[in-house]
Amino acid sequence: MTPEPAPTLKQLLAFYLEAGVDCALGDEPVNRLAELEPVPAAPPREVAPPRATREPPLAAAVPRSEIAITPDAAIASAREAARTAPTLEALRTLLENFDGCALKHTATRLVFADGNPEARVMFVGEAPGRDEDIEGLPFVGRSGKLLDRMIAAIGLDRGKAYIANVIPWRPPGNRTPTPQETQVCLPFIQRQIELVNPDVLVTLGNPSTQALIGTREGIMRTRGKWFDYDTGTRVIRAIATFHPAYLLRSPSYKRMSWQDLRAIAKALGQQGSSSS
Ligand code: URA
Repeated sequence: MTPEPAPTLKQLLAFYLEAGVDCALGDEPVNRLAELEPVPAAPPREVAPPRATREPPLAAAVPRSEIAITPDAAIASAREAARTAPTLEALRTLLENFDGCALKHTATRLVFADGNPEARVMFVGEAPGRDEDIEGLPFVGRSGKLLDRMIAAIGLDRGKAYIANVIPWRPPGNRTPTPQETQVCLPFIQRQIELVNPDVLVTLGNPSTQALIGTREGIMRTRGKWFDYDTGTRVIRAIATFHPAYLLRSPSYKRMSWQDLRAIAKALGQQGSSSS
């Protein structure tokens, strides 16, 4: 068999881009498959000096921001912080200062929300992508253009809808957020929903539906059904539909999404437009 020619640099970059790798996290590549350096043998244990002359404990010498926070502690601190935000602006500021989610450090900026905080309908996606990370607004890329058309189909526009994501920072290379990242960010989007207090909540795609509505079933089964979403202060009508990115890949599902949009328009007492 003739061996395949080695790819050119251009082909390699195109491959990475196609695979979603479109940002560098460090200046030098890290070979994670390389053999680990042998760990040097531990030096013999020193006998601790008498109590009065002992150095302060290590944690006291390390700045607070550098102490690694455990996943459970990050989730607990997210819950505690989100609860205290009295307004959307306060919630945004809390997120800007929150250090419990590592995605913040790889993302360019926080993607908090777009649209009208007084809107009667709120759409929630999964996490920002590359375009959103650059602009700092949710759903501005290709799937955002389709979301705009979906919103127009219920007779509205971004000025009359509110849009956010479960995760407000772009995962590197658009990878799927880990369950822990979702759990850490969940209290913030839950508080955001409570503060916007829409009449209808629309979850876009499986991840946001499972995170917010708590269903275990896939989007094929959950879409188009109404759920009660309890904010703690009010029960909101919630409905799941396909994520616009999924509709771009599988346009044949647009027909079903159109049915969901008509149900949303009806719940809002809104005239939907006559074309999909
Ligand atoms: N996909 C999402 O789920 N959210 C965005 O903001 C963009 C794409």
